[in-house]
Amino acid sequence: MSDKKTSNQMWGGRFASGPAAIMEAINASISFDRKLYAQDIRGSIAHSEMLAQTGIISAADQEKIAHGLNTILKEIEAGTFEFSTKLEDIHMNVEARLADLIGPAAGRLHTARSRNDQVAVDLRLWVKDECFRVAEALKGLIRALLDRAEEHAATVMPGFTHMQAAQPVTFGHHCMAYVEMFSRDLSRVRDAIERMDESPLGAAALAGTSFPIDRHQTARALGFREPMRNSLDSVSDRDFALEFLSLAAICATHLSRLAEEIIIWSTPQFGFIRLSDGFSTGSSIMPQKKNPDAAELVRGKTGRVNGHLVGLLTVMKGMPLTYGKDMQEDKESVFDAAETLDLMLAAMTGMVSDMTVNTAAMKKAAGSGHATATDLADWLVRTLGLPFREAHHVTGRAVALAEENKVGLERLSLEDLQSINPGITSDIFSVLAVQNSVKSRTSFGGTAPSEVRKQIRAWKRRIAKA
Ligand code: ARG
Repeated sequence: MSDKKTSNQMWGGRFASGPAAIMEAINASISFDRKLYAQDIRGSIAHSEMLAQTGIISAADQEKIAHGLNTILKEIEAGTFEFSTKLEDIHMNVEARLADLIGPAAGRLHTARSRNDQVAVDLRLWVKDECFRVAEALKGLIRALLDRAEEHAATVMPGFTHMQAAQPVTFGHHCMAYVEMFSRDLSRVRDAIERMDESPLGAAALAGTSFPIDRHQTARALGFREPMRNSLDSVSDRDFALEFLSLAAICATHLSRLAEEIIIWSTPQFGFIRLSDGFSTGSSIMPQKKNPDAAELVRGKTGRVNGHLVGLLTVMKGMPLTYGKDMQEDKESVFDAAETLDLMLAAMTGMVSDMTVNTAAMKKAAGSGHATATDLADWLVRTLGLPFREAHHVTGRAVALAEENKVGLERLSLEDLQSINPGITSDIFSVLAVQNSVKSRTSFGGTAPSEVRKQIRAWKRRIAKA
């Protein structure tokens, strides 16, 4: 099966014939790692400058190298660059073209460097840039949620546990729960950036180099805080990619919960919200339908992002130090998770900003299902001094009576309530109304509009500075 092709230009010295077609297919990464072209060229320019400054190559050669690399950058961006599978990956594609363009000086670029530290620095730069993109997108989503929360700080809706109406809350409070979640996602992004802000360049193949390189200089030139301290670790770990995938998976999981709620809220049965036409689709057969496809796709794409995390964890598990070609499998999962997450965040921000909130439907639902039963029990404890367990029991009887009379709890007459506990006074009605229930929950972090507004103000200030 081996086809006799010319041997590889870069490492073909000891091979009599070219790699078999299957080998070429399994080995090549250019179809996906071409995405790293800008980082690869940036890294090479920084490396060449350092080589010239430390006297390892001449200034004249460095100039040629930098000029050639910039030409390649333009070619790739113009779409005129010819990528070759035979040249395996982005690193060798760029280097081969550099040789075409500037001749033998191109061969000096790879001094004191290996593809092992080269790919590690390229991917770190890419993931770091993506983290900044995710941080911006998260801030956009948080701002959109804050705006909706502010508008609806006093809009009552049912709060659920077990998907059963539990206690009334406000829609603003509900939005703010997501603000908290996405803010933690944002802080995870920042933590990850902090940890990945070290340069692996200069670790060479794995052991460092005997050339008098300056790793601090290249680290600085590439915008890293400092160089990584261990050459073996530099070329062999991909925990920065795993951290990105972890934070992406957690964020996607958060997004999927909001997506699911949007789907439920927009059913005719709930009718809490209406998605804008821009974020829904019609059915080709049922003219009355308006489907929340964007929300469903956010929910569905979470599977893909979470899968990429497990995928790369499994690639890295049990890898002996240092580099192994297994690690070439790190890129597609990172790229796809990034592209997917960016899209999910954009779609969610659009849906949140554009949706119409049906406050009347929320209010109606908030009042149903004896949602203020806990308020009644709390009143019995507070006013009559009943132990909570007994108050719970009394309330249960009141709920049963309301069911029997087919009315809401707040519609029971004072006589009805007194038949259960004679100590009850008309003051009880002040807590049975949904709006009053919500207003009374002024504990820190509670759903009272006054509390919700405090949190909105605090987050607006934080996000403006973030
Ligand atoms: N394409 C390779 C990767 O993505 C680059 C590093 C190759 N290094 C090597 N020793 N074969 O991992």
